[in-house]
Amino acid sequence: MSNKEFNTVSLIRKKREGETLTKQEIQYLIRAYTEDRIPDYQMSAFLMASFLNGLNTTEAAALTHSMLHSGIVVDLNHVKGTKVDKHSTGGVGDKLSLILAPIVAACGVPVPMISGRGLGHTGGTLDKLESIPGFTVDVNLDRYKEILEKQNLVLVGQTEEIAPADKRLYALRDVTATVESIPLIAGSIMSKKLAEGIDALVLDVKFGSGAFMKKHEDAVKLAETLVGIGEEFGKETIAFLTNMEQPLGYAVGNWLEVKESIDCLNGGGPDDVMEITHLLAGTMIYLGKKAGSIEEGIEKSKAAIANGSAFQKWIDIVEEQGGDTSVIKNPESYPGAGYTAEVAATGDGYITKMDAFAMGMVSVELGAGRRAKEDSVDPAAGFILHKKIGDKVKEGETFATLYTNKQEMLKTAKKGLQLAITIENRPPDNLRQITHMVDKNGLHNYGA
Ligand code: URA
Repeated sequence: MSNKEFNTVSLIRKKREGETLTKQEIQYLIRAYTEDRIPDYQMSAFLMASFLNGLNTTEAAALTHSMLHSGIVVDLNHVKGTKVDKHSTGGVGDKLSLILAPIVAACGVPVPMISGRGLGHTGGTLDKLESIPGFTVDVNLDRYKEILEKQNLVLVGQTEEIAPADKRLYALRDVTATVESIPLIAGSIMSKKLAEGIDALVLDVKFGSGAFMKKHEDAVKLAETLVGIGEEFGKETIAFLTNMEQPLGYAVGNWLEVKESIDCLNGGGPDDVMEITHLLAGTMIYLGKKAGSIEEGIEKSKAAIANGSAFQKWIDIVEEQGGDTSVIKNPESYPGAGYTAEVAATGDGYITKMDAFAMGMVSVELGAGRRAKEDSVDPAAGFILHKKIGDKVKEGETFATLYTNKQEMLKTAKKGLQLAITIENRPPDNLRQITHMVDKNGLHNYGA
């Protein structure tokens, strides 16, 4: 691609009018923005025009390519084995990376995982990892490679060198209401993932009230776009469509989710969390060539929990990255939140719906997420659900417990959770946790 300069206003106008930009034009926008030659206000206008009018497949590929090459593409050839990562499009209570990364690494597949922070109502793996005292997610590239080689696993944040254009655009999108766009999400995810040195990728594409894609059909389109980009860049990519109509598991909030993950790695954990974890881990083990099929990968994933190797790998990586393993071995010793409160059901019946977006916002208000870029998160804040969709409740019965250090938020948080659940006389239809798989051959029904 060339270094040609263009008139930024003309390109914004072109996208505003619904026209298609050339590869060179997209490359110019991304490069000039990363080099501070385009200000945030012009990039915001371009993002909004792209959000409203969309980007076609060629434009989305050009965007990914430009974002990927805004930084370096890590060479992990010195690390033996097929390197596989997993990425989720984001949800509430989604702690799967914390469980599956040590499982897959324990099964012999190297996992170089570069994760993000919370975005909007969704939590982020980095914030969860940082709730472990001492755990550092900020490492340079040499240390990134060293940890991976030693542990078969590394869990870090995006460095300045990896897809810097995404780092800046991600923060700008968060505050300009331009997150929920299929091509923008696809470019953001794939530029980071392709830069980290992987050979193959598993994607967890979420749909429902707590996902960025509320409609299943939009999630399918996103999955197809992500897989298409992965294959175009020569990386085997498999995506699953998974349910985010309610928080995953029972815990929402950084340390609370780490604690639930420890239960999972010790052989407990909620069924919805473990069903998706084993599927994604099994697929990674298969793509990492340590199993002949996804089914065999799932069996290996279950065995890694049963024989304790996944939990040992978790202890090893926490120690390697500076974390305090005593709270992992004894989670009850973790300093809790200053205030807790029980949330009571306002009627009798079955919980038929949960507004997972609203519930994610409650956890942000309790301190588990950020309202502004510069906010810090409270590791102990969040909530534990005691009931989920399909469970029976009685008026006055506790269905959730809040944890926070902001006493003033308790009242609105309680109300927020009460309003987020729907109670009806009849039980709801069963929720399908995993509906489809998308691979290079297209969309397949999963487990119906
Ligand atoms: N996750 C990402 O990495 N980027 C997005 O834009 C949304 C979710």
